[in-house]
Amino acid sequence: MNNHLTAINYSELELIFCLKILKLNSLHYGYWKSRDEININNLKKAQAKYVRYLMKFIPRGIKDILDVGCGVGDNATALAKKGYRVIGLTPDKYQYKILKGINNGNVSFELKKFENFWTVKKFDCILMSESSNYFDMDIGLNKSKDLLKKNGYLLVADTFRKTLSKEFTGTHVESEWIRCAEKYGFKVIKQEDITQNVLPTLVFGENMYREYLAPIEEIIDGYFKKSSLMRTKIIEFLFAKDVKRLFSLKDYLFERLNSNLFSEKARYLIYLLRQKG
Ligand SMILES: C[S@@+](CC[C@H](N)C(=O)[O-])C[C@H]1O[C@@H](n2cnc3c(N)ncnc32)[C@H](O)[C@@H]1O
Repeated sequence: MNNHLTAINYSELELIFCLKILKLNSLHYGYWKSRDEININNLKKAQAKYVRYLMKFIPRGIKDILDVGCGVGDNATALAKKGYRVIGLTPDKYQYKILKGINNGNVSFELKKFENFWTVKKFDCILMSESSNYFDMDIGLNKSKDLLKKNGYLLVADTFRKTLSKEFTGTHVESEWIRCAEKYGFKVIKQEDITQNVLPTLVFGENMYREYLAPIEEIIDGYFKKSSLMRTKIIEFLFAKDVKRLFSLKDYLFERLNSNLFSEKARYLIYLLRQKG
């Protein structure tokens, strides 16, 4: 499922912000402990901790893993170092450039959307770490079923909406997603709610917004207020769409980084599912 808020793909913008501005080595929320102070160093530590935490959900006897939406490859590399054979997918050219620099014989990467990926190879496990919301659930679960070996596993860590709320529309509704997974032959093996462990990342994001983006908005706003009415009208006329998008980005971030709203409307879950034999 893509983010339908506007024509701009805000999720992609966010990922670029994380890599190029915050210089993060990961594209997931991270796993915080309750007493961790909220700062960039602890965010990086939480992201590394998340990778280790996720590994614990990989069942025994697994060899071949497909890492769908592998970001900059930190999960895939950690798995490869443990001896798993991994294929990572991303449709993003910038991430793919970074991935090409990873040198581990157990892992390879493809520049492809999951929807367009096909191979005769079958996997023991498919991993979707914060990528399951980027495509339609039917397409994603049906494709997972086709690419898995008999009794194969699907490990998903992501944000799910609690109900069909108008907030967080870029995420799947948990009950609908589970129903859909069952339709494609999956059975829940394990489920863990780690919402409290990811929330500090949203608080960090809120702080960043207040510190850096809000002042930029004020500057732009001040510029328009000082300009003559005629000039403002001309700019509005010429760039009406862009101005509208800029303001919808503000709404998007307000929702996306609101930790209270997140706790109320969504949950961050790790699901381990298995194909019924
Ligand atoms: C939030 S990042 C998570 C990255 C990584 N899995 C992690 O845990 O750090 C989402 C990833 O999904 C990728 N993605 C977006 N649309 C996709 C699609 N249709 N098929 C596969 N991956 C997609 C993004 O480019 C990005 O790599």
